[in-house]
Amino acid sequence: MSKAHFGLVGLGVMGENLVLNAERNGFSSVVFNRTYSKTEAFLKGRGAYKAISGAVDIKDFVNKLERPRRILMMVKAGPATDAVIQQISPFLEEGDLLIDGGNSLFSDTERRVEELESKSFGYIGMGVSGGSKGALEGPSMMPGGTKASYDAIESLLTKMAAQVEDGPCVTYIGPGGSGHFVKTVHNGIEYGLEQILAEGYDLMKRLCGMNCEAIADVFQFWNSSEELSSYLVEITEICLRTKDPEDGSDLVEKIMDKAGQKGTGLWTVVSALQLGASVPTIYASLNARVMSSMKSQREKAESILGSKSFSNSNLGSISDGMAPIMDAVTLSTIASYAQGMEILKLASEEYNYNLHMPSIAQIWKGGCIIRSTLLKRIQDAFKRDSQLPNLLLDPWFANQVTLRLPGLTRVVSIANQAGVPVPCFSSTLDYINSYSSSRLPQNLVQAMRDCFGSHTYERIDKTGAFHTDWIK
Ligand code: 6PG
Repeated sequence: MSKAHFGLVGLGVMGENLVLNAERNGFSSVVFNRTYSKTEAFLKGRGAYKAISGAVDIKDFVNKLERPRRILMMVKAGPATDAVIQQISPFLEEGDLLIDGGNSLFSDTERRVEELESKSFGYIGMGVSGGSKGALEGPSMMPGGTKASYDAIESLLTKMAAQVEDGPCVTYIGPGGSGHFVKTVHNGIEYGLEQILAEGYDLMKRLCGMNCEAIADVFQFWNSSEELSSYLVEITEICLRTKDPEDGSDLVEKIMDKAGQKGTGLWTVVSALQLGASVPTIYASLNARVMSSMKSQREKAESILGSKSFSNSNLGSISDGMAPIMDAVTLSTIASYAQGMEILKLASEEYNYNLHMPSIAQIWKGGCIIRSTLLKRIQDAFKRDSQLPNLLLDPWFANQVTLRLPGLTRVVSIANQAGVPVPCFSSTLDYINSYSSSRLPQNLVQAMRDCFGSHTYERIDKTGAFHTDWIK
């Protein structure tokens, strides 16, 4: 029997769909799962009548693969990934390649790349985005590791990936854990975009008294605009129109308002702070999830601190896409991408990832959760100026700020007066106002630091470090 081109460990829904994708693209495959019953069920079900075979144990799995072996691990990030590597390594031979397609912490990937490469195996840490449908039909993939390892799987990945007008949504990201780092930041942006859309929905519901169908109409309008056309806006419309089969009411309104998280948003914010990137919109979205999880405390606090009165505010009409809210959503969306790109730029310098920003924007244009038409503008902006300090400084984005800042300001002010939280909108407004202020009040912070701690300060009229004996 001829050996398989490609191996998969871990038959979760992502693993299943990725192996079906590989097989559909001409790569015969062998699959292994911790419990063989799952392998059997897959081979009898979705994997039947395909060039996919199963393995009873790791040795059998490795033996069924052609050399150099290409093995994709789709297992839980963390100790489970280390356990699979430990289990499989004794059977590998020089040049064999392991690919981790989970949402691993990039520093874990750095360590694993080093360990595996030192044993003459290849190791790729690859972010995969697009959910289960993307995995099957064409995801966006962010592989990092040595270039030689990437070259060994390039033909496989370019066929499996989503395709956009200028090529497949996969590229060599860079060395070490760079692939997982870029995926982490992708997810940080994803957190931002989700919260931004939720804030828009909340304002339309609470301040404008609109029902889910009317709000869905606005999302449909937004999805037809260049600025907001995106996967997340598209699925939000679907979510808002979906009814509870039990009673035909809006399903979204029956869902508990507590958002879960698996870690990548937190890692994005921690990395940003470590790198010195200012990411208030992304941070606000993470904090909003944390706050949402405190449901019972919030219920108690509402009875003590709450009792807000929501007036009917004029925030536009469906036919103009609730113009000021659209301004707020658009600028906050731009800020999320700008902040994510800023993290990538700093990480590229700090970790020597040598990231190519236009290519990252290019592979996010299709397949992934944050795909949007705006990414074409982002790609163009970094193509025009690879050293662009901030997306907001690109002429097209700067013009968006000019056009939409009054709307964002109005929305934040109305929301604040009504007591409706809009953490991402508010943070974006402060972000833009701070970034566009040549003078901030940190002169006074510096004075205080020098006053109590002799930390010294710089002056605007002379060079050097200065200290004043403030308390005589
Ligand atoms: C993707 C997603 C995916 C992520 C989920 C859950 O790109 O396909 O980013 O990888 O794991 O969206 O993330 P949270 O549970 O942290 O929201």
